[in-house]
Amino acid sequence: MESGQRHFPRPAIAAQHIATFRRGLISSRVMFARRQMGKTTYLLQDLAPAAQEAGYRVAYVDVSQSPDPGHALAEAIRGAVKRSRMAWLTNRLPVPAAWRHDGKIALTDALLMANRQSCPILLLVDEAQTLSLPAHENLAYALRALLDVRRNEVKALFAGTADKAQPRRFGLAGDPFFQWAYAEQFPVLGPEFVEFVVSSFKRSGSHPLPLESALHAFTHLHARPGAFGHFVACYMARNDGDVEAALTITIRHEAARATPYRSGA
Ligand SMILES: Nc1ncnc2c1ncn2[C@@H]1O[C@H](COP(=O)(O)OP(=O)(O)OP(=O)(O)O)[C@@H](O)[C@H]1O
Ligand SMILES: [Mg+2]
Repeated sequence: MESGQRHFPRPAIAAQHIATFRRGLISSRVMFARRQMGKTTYLLQDLAPAAQEAGYRVAYVDVSQSPDPGHALAEAIRGAVKRSRMAWLTNRLPVPAAWRHDGKIALTDALLMANRQSCPILLLVDEAQTLSLPAHENLAYALRALLDVRRNEVKALFAGTADKAQPRRFGLAGDPFFQWAYAEQFPVLGPEFVEFVVSSFKRSGSHPLPLESALHAFTHLHARPGAFGHFVACYMARNDGDVEAALTITIRHEAARATPYRSGA
């Protein structure tokens, strides 16, 4: 985590996600937000452990990181199945010949395994906008159909980016893939997060950071937690109480690191 910032836990959102999956009315959700708003952190540090605690086998995959998202999804599901008490089953299932060539077949097979588990699987699909690229159209439809059939055993949460640069790709406007699932805006971090950071900061012995100044910086940084972490680290390092100087440096730093994102973005 940037600048050694402590994780601000978000148990209420995780509990709410798990509760709706448990009730069974919704088996697939789509969660979207702009870049750098804390989506991945939420999936890995809040939802995944809470879901594990609640009895789910969690499969996480960033589909933008693989040239073959079908295989990546299948591998993630197989990994979750392997971690289960029925690991022996995975090892004994024959691997289809087509496994190495067809991500869709791999996915079907992996979901079949999930079907035989005593615990439900929670599939966390990060950078999900990748699936709405034309190259992955077939996979996206296959995944949708498979998740529909396996809705009792496999719950899915798709997290993706929707911002000015790519409003259409993350398909709320036009992509049928994401229209089938329940879509929601990712709840962005707010003043509670700023208060949490400021209170940890108080213990550091550095020049005090007034809450009001911290809130001002957070707003200027468009509520991006990583950027805010950079601001706090910078303010701390300067140790001169100059909020505006630390903010200016952070804004420059953020602009410099805003290199083009991965192809799936
Ligand atoms: N709950 C949190 N507590 C503390 N810091 C956080 C939290 N969530 C996110 N961050 C910080 O914000 C940074 C960006 O978070 P993250 O990578 O999760 O965002 P993202 O929305 O997945 O970004 P991208 O769209 O680029 O994938 C992280 O590196 C981390 O430093
Ligand atoms: Mg992310």
